[in-house]
Amino acid sequence: MLNQRDYTAVFESSPDAMLVVDANGVIRDLNRQALAMFGYGREEIEGSPVERLVPEASRARHVLHRRRYGESPHPRPMGQELELQALRKDGMTIPVEISLSPSTLGSGEPHVICAVRDMTGWKRLRRLSGMMITGAEQERRHLSRELHDEFLQSLVALKIRAKLLADEKDDAERERARERMAGEIADTIRGVKRMIRGLLPPALDHQGLSSAIGSALRDIEEVYGFTVHARLGRVGRSMDENAALALYRIVQEAVMNAVRHSGVGEAAVTLESTAEAVTATVRDEGCGFALPDLEALSGDDCIGLVGMRERAALTGGWLDIRTSPGKGTTVRVSVPVAEPEDEQE
Ligand SMILES: Nc1ncnc2c1ncn2[C@@H]1O[C@H](COP(=O)(O)OP(=O)(O)OP(=O)(O)O)[C@@H](O)[C@H]1O
Ligand SMILES: [Mg+2]
Repeated sequence: MLNQRDYTAVFESSPDAMLVVDANGVIRDLNRQALAMFGYGREEIEGSPVERLVPEASRARHVLHRRRYGESPHPRPMGQELELQALRKDGMTIPVEISLSPSTLGSGEPHVICAVRDMTGWKRLRRLSGMMITGAEQERRHLSRELHDEFLQSLVALKIRAKLLADEKDDAERERARERMAGEIADTIRGVKRMIRGLLPPALDHQGLSSAIGSALRDIEEVYGFTVHARLGRVGRSMDENAALALYRIVQEAVMNAVRHSGVGEAAVTLESTAEAVTATVRDEGCGFALPDLEALSGDDCIGLVGMRERAALTGGWLDIRTSPGKGTTVRVSVPVAEPEDEQE
């Protein structure tokens, strides 16, 4: 038989935060995970109303729910309510899932045992999978635009030229037209090759991050007539490939944003690495913009910026965007060289 100490050990070793709340909504006990999740010391929170852990805006509703639950208590598993938020001591809210089980403790008093699970990681994953879907759709739109604007137009023009060429009686003029056509065909072939290159993931394994970024920047310079002042330090090959790819895509997106939105014709890109992290900056002296709260955005808004931030976070790194209207834009991203530690250890 398990004794009191064993039960305490079970309570403490639960992977979820656990709270024991009495019929008046007062927290009577909580485990280590709960203290860590909410950021309180035991003496600060034990004996407090459970509503201290509920964001202000939902407190009154929570009291009502709690009273109703107290009238007909029943086990309620996790996942039955969506988007519950809990309030930490530092004022941050976290998405949680909560399961409740009514219980009569040794004292004979009715209590509720609450298991609380932090859903931050899961929410991030859900958002990322949504982004991947919209990202793929966006990419298709971009491809179809490029195929239409660039290649379809060139092929239509070549077809007309071929017809004119066939009708041309003057030998010298026909030769000039033939040369022009050959030049246009070569341009179109170069365009297709560039597009194919842009679609392929960069060959980071044998090229290395620094030269892969270098070639991507040269492509952008050539295609958009944009000048990139690049200072790219060497990056050791020990870097995790996913982290390197994330950094590559972030730099690519930040430079493309400078090309498309900054209103100036140049940007500076740097890449530096230490034993711990690789850091890249993309700076333009252009129009800048009012940076929205990327956490609060959803759906199709600012997919580029949100994607940069998510990519950096998924590698265990960070992204910092400094910008304001008229002051240019600096995007700084840092990703750790070692793989992020497994949180589930
Ligand atoms: N370097 C920059 N200079 C000025 N404005 C910028 C810059 N970078 C981003 N912006 C502004 O922020 C907005 C959001 O950027 P984001 O990359 O998320 O989307 P986008 O570039 O418009 O579209 P896409 O989804 O193709 O990236 C841009 O539309 C632009 O108004
Ligand atoms: Mg963009």
